[in-house]
Amino acid sequence: MNFVLKGTIFVASFVVAAAGIKSYVDHSVRVVCRRFELELRNLQSDKKTFSEIYRTHSSWGTPEHLSGLGSAKRYTMPCIEYVQKFIDTNKLQTIYDFGCGSYEWMQHVSVPKNVQYYGVDVVESVIQENKRKYEKDNIHFVCIDSTDDFLKCSGDLLIVKDVFECWNIERMQYFFQHVLPNFKYAIMVDYCDPKGRNNSPNSPTGPVSSKDVEAAPFNLKCKESRLYEINFNEKGRKWKTSKKIALWENPNCVRPQSNVTDSNNGSNKSEKNG
Ligand SMILES: C[S@@+](CC[C@H](N)C(=O)[O-])C[C@H]1O[C@@H](n2cnc3c(N)ncnc32)[C@H](O)[C@@H]1O
Repeated sequence: MNFVLKGTIFVASFVVAAAGIKSYVDHSVRVVCRRFELELRNLQSDKKTFSEIYRTHSSWGTPEHLSGLGSAKRYTMPCIEYVQKFIDTNKLQTIYDFGCGSYEWMQHVSVPKNVQYYGVDVVESVIQENKRKYEKDNIHFVCIDSTDDFLKCSGDLLIVKDVFECWNIERMQYFFQHVLPNFKYAIMVDYCDPKGRNNSPNSPTGPVSSKDVEAAPFNLKCKESRLYEINFNEKGRKWKTSKKIALWENPNCVRPQSNVTDSNNGSNKSEKNG
């Protein structure tokens, strides 16, 4: 009897242990595959990643709002008003809109004729469409191959809206180190969790994840920042989210202004940082 009981306990323990090991192995395989998939996405150039998102309307785009629903005029008024006021009250010669997408919200900002606006993006089809629809004497669109093509660029105001929220932390750090110092002012706008759950170290490049440029690990010292709430109401579905507008001023910016080159015209090409 004792022998049978011991045998049963042994078999039961073996079955439980085997099930535990199997579930642990399954979980580990899933974690490794997911990590591998994310790493692959992070290694892929921004040109490939974002062209694919525009082509398939995956991640954040829709056929009506190619750059994302958050770029529609009805959800961007605080941003339009903020940028308009900044342009109207500061002496600017050049504005660069990095990651301009389909120029959906920025077309509602009035840029004075004596100010040059450059919308810059890695997605060729979007830039071509913007050129066709919106290009004017002082409104230009430029396609670049990667952030590295933008390193030689400098100017008065840099606008970066809803780009960091689609980037991983490493890309953002590279941008803050190498691009930001070339501009006098930067207005940066991204989804931001007011409760502070931002800047996840695992955020991949492509899908949206909330970012706060003033929080660790970036800790940018901004001149001012403000949160605004967006109340989405689409096809009977309602939800809300918050965005942060951060204004950064560079007191050391003395660099002369220089232009970005269209990737079609043969600029330096590099895949280093997307
Ligand atoms: C969510 S969309 C936002 C577009 C626009 N700023 C807006 O608010 O409507 C992000 C944009 O960033 C662009 N982008 C991502 N990485 C880039 C890079 N390295 N250089 C230039 N543009 C980039 C994408 O192609 C995409 O158009």
